[in-house]
Amino acid sequence: MSFKASAPGKIILFGEHAVVYGKPALAVPVTQIHTVVDVSDSDQPGVWIDAADINLHAELNTLPLDHPLAAAIRNLFLFQGVTSFPNLRINISSTIPVAAGFGSGAAVSVAVLRSLSSYLDKPLRNEDVNRLALEIEKLYHGSPSGIDNTVITYAQPVYFVKDRPIEIFKVGAPLTIVIGDTGIPAPTRESVSDVRRLWTADKPYWENIFKQVGMITNQARAAIESGRLNQVGELMNQNHALLQEMTVSSPELDKLVESSRKAGAIGAKLSGGGRGGNMIALVKSESADVVSSAMIDAGAKRIIITRIL
Ligand code: PMV
Repeated sequence: MSFKASAPGKIILFGEHAVVYGKPALAVPVTQIHTVVDVSDSDQPGVWIDAADINLHAELNTLPLDHPLAAAIRNLFLFQGVTSFPNLRINISSTIPVAAGFGSGAAVSVAVLRSLSSYLDKPLRNEDVNRLALEIEKLYHGSPSGIDNTVITYAQPVYFVKDRPIEIFKVGAPLTIVIGDTGIPAPTRESVSDVRRLWTADKPYWENIFKQVGMITNQARAAIESGRLNQVGELMNQNHALLQEMTVSSPELDKLVESSRKAGAIGAKLSGGGRGGNMIALVKSESADVVSSAMIDAGAKRIIITRIL
């Protein structure tokens, strides 16, 4: 017996960091990249995890309690009242780059929870997948807003406000997005705690910045829903400027953003935690190749072109 589940990557279009402080953010799935988890019977005693991409081959009980993968599996067993663990093999493979802002950790959690719960013949509802995946995100990130697990669980464009029911948003005209990866690993935990330090030192100032990001995000949702792409691009530029002010951009990200704009992107910004990881450029579909080449010349290590419909 074997059960498979997959989960996509994601990018944040608007509102990262401010979302941690209760402001709205927009995120979309990136279906070209995904994690696949296959749970199958095993003759070997124990719960064996194989994740070749991260060089992991281990039995569940040998992993520390706060290991995110082990915690996802243990939490699911606990949630479903499974006390004696069956002998099984959990095979994880992923094309989602790690620590690049694509939500690789959340995708692994979601795919593990779905495949394992189906294997146990108790498939989870989306709400439960989302809630359990958030607990695991806390091990990766410290104090995540929950946006990654949400967009990856629902695999649809999400308007997200922390601790509020999710809203799916419509896309009035397809968005062609060129994603440029700096190739620099950037743990979100660090940029999030640096922003927290800034906020702690001058709350009124930073709350005003977060409020501006929130307004941009709301305008962007309306612009995306009615297909006003030029306005979406302009709002991306404004959001990037505020992220620079939060100190979460980097020379490499700025260079990719500027090169994409020069090559004809409608707008561009960093996406996700920042410092490294990736940036996104909104383009007319016919200029995707020109913008991609300019970004490669400016140092992008990987380009993904995605269309959001
Ligand atoms: O996982 P990333 O790098 O795409 O970033 C998540 C977005 C943040 O707003 C920076 C953090 C969070 O928990 O929302």
